[in-house]
Amino acid sequence: MPDNGDKPLDGCEVLLALTGGIACYKAADLASRLVQAGCGTTVAMTDAAGRFIRPLTFQALTRRRVYTGLWTPDEDVQTGHIALSERADVMVIAPATANILAKIACGIADDLVSTLALASCGACQLLVAPAMNTRMWNAPPTQVNLATLRERGVHVVGPAEGNLACGTVGPGRMSEPADIVQTITDLLKRNPSSA
Ligand SMILES: Cc1cc2nc3c(=O)[nH]c(=O)nc-3n(C[C@H](O)[C@H](O)[C@H](O)COP(=O)(O)O)c2cc1C
Repeated sequence: MPDNGDKPLDGCEVLLALTGGIACYKAADLASRLVQAGCGTTVAMTDAAGRFIRPLTFQALTRRRVYTGLWTPDEDVQTGHIALSERADVMVIAPATANILAKIACGIADDLVSTLALASCGACQLLVAPAMNTRMWNAPPTQVNLATLRERGVHVVGPAEGNLACGTVGPGRMSEPADIVQTITDLLKRNPSSA
């Protein structure tokens, strides 16, 4: 990937998927930073994510349609749920809930985001930014799921340690948007064919 100065992701396509956690508010900053870095950014979100932040925020930030479900009437039902990951250089799930990590590890595809994650296999790189309560993060099923994902080549950024929305301190905070953008940039530099 060439060095494009203040637009390090110029010409790249990111599929940004949100799942349902408090850190959805940070995903708005992430979307904004991706667009400023020159990156074509398409957003998909789960129903739970839609309870934390509205699609309109991302439509305004990305100037693109936001995808919220498999069954949207005007969707191209033949390919829509797969084409989004085919067009992307990288699919980024931020924040990634314990639930989506478990679904990806098991190959469950029961909504738009989990279907896109499964369809990303062989189409684009997959990066997850977990965010959850420390006990959920430390729970054996979450750690086993993470190990499975890493083994399969899924990239993981964070979580960071610090104050959590539930009032505790520990690992579970979503990585800062600037760090996630840097991780994406490094990932695409290492794999120039996908940029
Ligand atoms: C207020 C609130 C905050 C939550 N925060 C998180 C979180 O940070 N991380 C997480 O894994 N789950 C969190 N959950 C639980 C998820 O929203 C829940 O597991 C949901 O089914 C996830 O769905 P999704 O993965 O399809 O988005 C939270 C739930 C509530 C009500």
